[in-house]
Amino acid sequence: VNFFTNSIGPARTEAAISPLALPFNLVKKHLQIVEGEISAQVRAFDPGIEEYVKYAVESRGKRLRPALVLLVGGATGNIGQEHVNLAVILELIHLATLIHDDIIDGAELRRERPTANALWGNATSVLLGDALFAHAMKLSASFEDAEICRQIANATSDVCAGEIIQTQRRRDWKLTLEEYYRIIEMKTGALFVLASDLAARLNHQEPAVQENCREYGRKLGIAYQIYDDCLDIAGSEEAAGKTLRTDLGKGKLTLPILRMLNESTDLRHKEICELLEDGGEPAVNQLADMAIAGGYVHRSIEETRALVAAAKAHAVALPDTEYSQGMQAIGDVLLSLLAKIDQ
Ligand code: IPE
Ligand code: IPE
Ligand code: MG
Ligand code: MG
Repeated sequence: VNFFTNSIGPARTEAAISPLALPFNLVKKHLQIVEGEISAQVRAFDPGIEEYVKYAVESRGKRLRPALVLLVGGATGNIGQEHVNLAVILELIHLATLIHDDIIDGAELRRERPTANALWGNATSVLLGDALFAHAMKLSASFEDAEICRQIANATSDVCAGEIIQTQRRRDWKLTLEEYYRIIEMKTGALFVLASDLAARLNHQEPAVQENCREYGRKLGIAYQIYDDCLDIAGSEEAAGKTLRTDLGKGKLTLPILRMLNESTDLRHKEICELLEDGGEPAVNQLADMAIAGGYVHRSIEETRALVAAAKAHAVALPDTEYSQGMQAIGDVLLSLLAKIDQ
């Protein structure tokens, strides 16, 4: 269930009254422009693949990264056309990574609809993701400041590297917490950093402000992935709108599972590893129950809350405007998402 009001289409009453929509409403006008421009990208593709691209870009995500670009843009100066372009580019890159990620995870549901791989198979979906990546790079080339394009390419490369390392390290019981943090910083943090860093850069901010924005994005991004990793264990597919428990099924070691492994006796450790090796539905459900009952999900959620607080502090350090308050409110959105899965 998507409670944000930034999507065009029939208004959702629940969304209209939700305080969670606050930061999104603040940049609503620009988000609508972003939405229109994302849809308009379909025309840039060959008519032979239009149908696939259309399906992909019409899916309604939370538009978290575009919202970040716009809020940080407002908090550091003006929200200009280049912020809108950046928001479009980031969402397209994010979308491409999701298409590829769903292939890797064998996921069937995304944004409340069948995944590209479920509809058209892996071959077409890999190439569709590539086409979206390439198109995002083409759009990036039109920034006046060439450094922006370079940074977008760099961050995208980091996302891919993070996904590759994670894939390589599946069912590697030696994975350390440090390595886990590094992976999530790359695969998810990179785009959050990019959003806030470049949004400030477009407003020619001084280094101290720039650094606050970067750190805000970095901490928020890491927090967001830990939240998502807890969601994979403790969330409901209906509410999340996507296939869950793929981390457990595919042997991806996430924070709650790593903590459970680290704190288990040898016998228990072996039992957990066997369940992860198994990867079948009963094993996966048993692992999830163990991680929840043992308090490992709860403790990971607590850790995420601390990261959100640290991220918010970077927004507080910026001049006090409705936009820097909006940046803090994004942190509150994450806190309320966390509360929903904390049991
Ligand atoms: C999902 O991202 C993948 C992660 C990095 C955790 P979002 O939760 O932002 O997905 P959408 O865009 O709302 O679908
Ligand atoms: C996020 O990882 C994927 C990327 C950053 C590309 P997940 O695999 O946890 O994302 P979901 O849960 O499928 O959305
Ligand atoms: Mg996935
Ligand atoms: Mg996940």
